[in-house]
Amino acid sequence: MKIILAPMDGITDFYVRQILTSVGGYDLSMTEFLRVTNSVFPKRVFYQNCPEINPEINSNLELLSFTQSGTPVHMQLLGSDADYLAANAAKAVELGVKGIDVNFGCPAKTVNGHGGGAVLLQDPEILYKLVSTIRKDLPSETPLSAKMRLGYETSDLLLDNAKAIEEAGADFITIHARTKFDGYRPPAKWHEVTDLFAKINIPIVLNGEIWDVNDYLKCQQISSCQDIMLGRGAFARPDLAKQIKTYLNHQPYQTMSWDSICVLLKDFYQFMVMQNLISEKYIAGRLKLWIKWLMASYDEAVFLFEQIKRISDAKEIGVKLQCHG
Ligand SMILES: Cc1cc2nc3c(=O)[nH]c(=O)nc-3n(C[C@H](O)[C@H](O)[C@H](O)COP(=O)(O)O)c2cc1C
Repeated sequence: MKIILAPMDGITDFYVRQILTSVGGYDLSMTEFLRVTNSVFPKRVFYQNCPEINPEINSNLELLSFTQSGTPVHMQLLGSDADYLAANAAKAVELGVKGIDVNFGCPAKTVNGHGGGAVLLQDPEILYKLVSTIRKDLPSETPLSAKMRLGYETSDLLLDNAKAIEEAGADFITIHARTKFDGYRPPAKWHEVTDLFAKINIPIVLNGEIWDVNDYLKCQQISSCQDIMLGRGAFARPDLAKQIKTYLNHQPYQTMSWDSICVLLKDFYQFMVMQNLISEKYIAGRLKLWIKWLMASYDEAVFLFEQIKRISDAKEIGVKLQCHG
């Protein structure tokens, strides 16, 4: 089975991808979405979105588009103009990106208002057009995937949308098991995907509300999925992918201690501080969000969050991290 680290805008950036894939268990990671409108981006934009392809940052040319621990990184594009999506996808691949994912799941009003993301799930023909146009301009060996929700308002078009993506030449589909109208409200409706496995001939990766090994087992039992994508759960339990893999392989595994989690947080803090352009407030916000997600699984995170929740100076939070672990 395969586990993918989810694309999360403003969250799963280069540093997070490096840190979480270094813990292990991930077969693939994705960039945050790059929004395509009516231009082909210059090289620097691709490098910003996916520093793993920038030879000045990733000096191991054999491993362009891989994290340091060897997990491939695919680039996610979002938009509704087939030709510009295709041209940007082709350029990304020329620059070294190992695979392209197309976003049909974003529920944000601004994105949907410009015809991108989940709003496209109302028309399978458009999905077909976008994916097939991108496919035509990519080398045949380059993986192309799409990430979708169950639907826009309802899941009535789930099969039609998935079929359209398959017939357009995608190599796999990730399904976030909620409609756009569901937003992020639990539960994820894993059962709605069950029938799809018999009807779609490319791998389906299931996503949504997998926070621990039991959730994976439940999701697997209900939907019969094998492959999954982890979003917020990857932050609540940074070794979740590893926990699931070792469980399935009947290997003994000691879940990460709070001390090891603190080392990750410190690495994350240091990574961000080294980028002089990132503001203190931004760094503080990113640390707080991660610590908040950790509260789901570590009591120590609850204690730490209480101490830092009103601090907006990243250095002060950094000092608190030094005391933990
Ligand atoms: C803050 C945030 C940003 C996200 N950004 C993206 C994105 O850029 N592209 C995308 O396809 N999905 C995005 N998502 C959706 C996640 O990839 C994932 O589908 C969702 O969080 C459900 O999975 P989870 O329950 O494991 O978190 C985002 C979700 C969150 C919470």
